[in-house]
Amino acid sequence: MPGTCVIGLQWGDEAKGKIVDLLTRDHDIVVRYQGGANAGHTVVVGPEVYKLSLLPSGVLTPGVTCVIAGGVVINPAKAIEELDELASRKVEDYDNLLLSDRAHVIFPWHFAEDRAMDRNTSDGENIGTTGRGIGPCYRDKVGRSYAVRLGDLYRDTFADQVRHNVAEKNRLLAAMVPPEEFEALDAEAIIKQYTAYAERLRPYVADTTEYLLSAAEEGKRILFEGAQGALLDVDHGTYPFVTSSNSSGVGISNGSGVPGRYIDKVIGIVKAYSTRVGGGPFPTEQDNEIGQRIRDQGNEYGTVTKRPRRCGWLDAVAVRYTSRLSGVDSICVMLLDVLSGLEELKICTAYEIDGKRSLAFPSHVDDIRKVVPIYETLPGWQEDLSGVRSLDELPHAARDYLDRICELVGIPVEMVSVGPDRSQTIPVNSDSVVGATL
Ligand code: GDP
Ligand code: IMO
Ligand code: MG
Repeated sequence: MPGTCVIGLQWGDEAKGKIVDLLTRDHDIVVRYQGGANAGHTVVVGPEVYKLSLLPSGVLTPGVTCVIAGGVVINPAKAIEELDELASRKVEDYDNLLLSDRAHVIFPWHFAEDRAMDRNTSDGENIGTTGRGIGPCYRDKVGRSYAVRLGDLYRDTFADQVRHNVAEKNRLLAAMVPPEEFEALDAEAIIKQYTAYAERLRPYVADTTEYLLSAAEEGKRILFEGAQGALLDVDHGTYPFVTSSNSSGVGISNGSGVPGRYIDKVIGIVKAYSTRVGGGPFPTEQDNEIGQRIRDQGNEYGTVTKRPRRCGWLDAVAVRYTSRLSGVDSICVMLLDVLSGLEELKICTAYEIDGKRSLAFPSHVDDIRKVVPIYETLPGWQEDLSGVRSLDELPHAARDYLDRICELVGIPVEMVSVGPDRSQTIPVNSDSVVGATL
């Protein structure tokens, strides 16, 4: 069975891009199957830093076919921008790419709706979206009446589809947006703009469901690249402070069209601490000196929006939940180097809610807000880890920290990352598996 998946187990930005890039060389195909340009994946190749929002991180490895499957929402301008950037940086084979004709397309009205809706949540706290039109595009997909799929751009009916949508969206937006911000959308200008995008992207558009099914049946090795993190999953995350797709492991098949029987390995990506961008509950948040120190040391600022990321201690209750939810076989612990220099480290091992101790992750946002984390304190280490390349070279305290994560989450560690570069990675092989006794 040829399929491997990489899933973020927190609120995104766990350094999935680095692991996808490393694993790509052992695969024939890399697939993005949910989300859109709300993702921001950084891949460091020697002196070069690549930031990708829409294209799979696999594009940086020649000889691999990259697929954007039907579950992704595509901003065509962003796809073109990223292709142009890779071309200008002379990335070999950068456009060995297929875009699903089933993928839904983001239009200018989605950006306007994203801004307007995020100011008007019934919860009172804003979601703090990336403003990339993701939620409104997925809402139109499910609502059907105003949806446009990539394949529609090549049909005679496209112009009328846009005219129909623009008439309705102008009415909606006029009611949603403060009058001084309302700018009527011009259907003919949008048709012209999107027709040009469609021509540019024509060589890449395909029925990727059929392509991937055939590839899986032929035994091709497929790597599924999750975006966001499982706690942002629309059905199983910290709802409503989530993204609009299934970003946990449950989304792989519905987004790609590839059934679970072809997926034999799920790798969970875990930051050695926790971060979150935007609104919503975050039980182990450290809105204090510790959080600031982690932010400074980990350069925790959003790849897409540049917003400072909220930082806090590792939450083993949450990671245990998301690793079970995603059917994770092994985890990669990322950014361990960022914790060097702290006297002591805390891991949240259980929650207290209304005076009761629990290991379950609550389903309602108000209960997550009530969580009082129960921490275990471990000694820190002072050594710089960025040059460490084997488990034996790690300070004892760092090794103990990894062992404890394994025990609490119940999943063995497969890789440890101590810096952004491909080389700053500690493989954990079978004779030194952290958590092998689990
Ligand atoms: P993704 O969205 O999950 O792909 O993660 P991002 O790219 O948004 O954020 C991870 C950031 O951490 C990027 O800037 C990476 O270059 C960087 N990074 C990856 N691994 C490590 C690591 O082990 N240590 C440090 N210090 N930085 C890392
Ligand atoms: P990667 O793939 C971190 C967050 C936003 C907001 C919420 C909803 O880089 O891990 P959206 O624009 O999706 O409607 O915003 O989800 N969010 C992310 N946070 N990493 C991401 O992607 C994210 N994608 C969305 O900050 O709180
Ligand atoms: Mg990111």
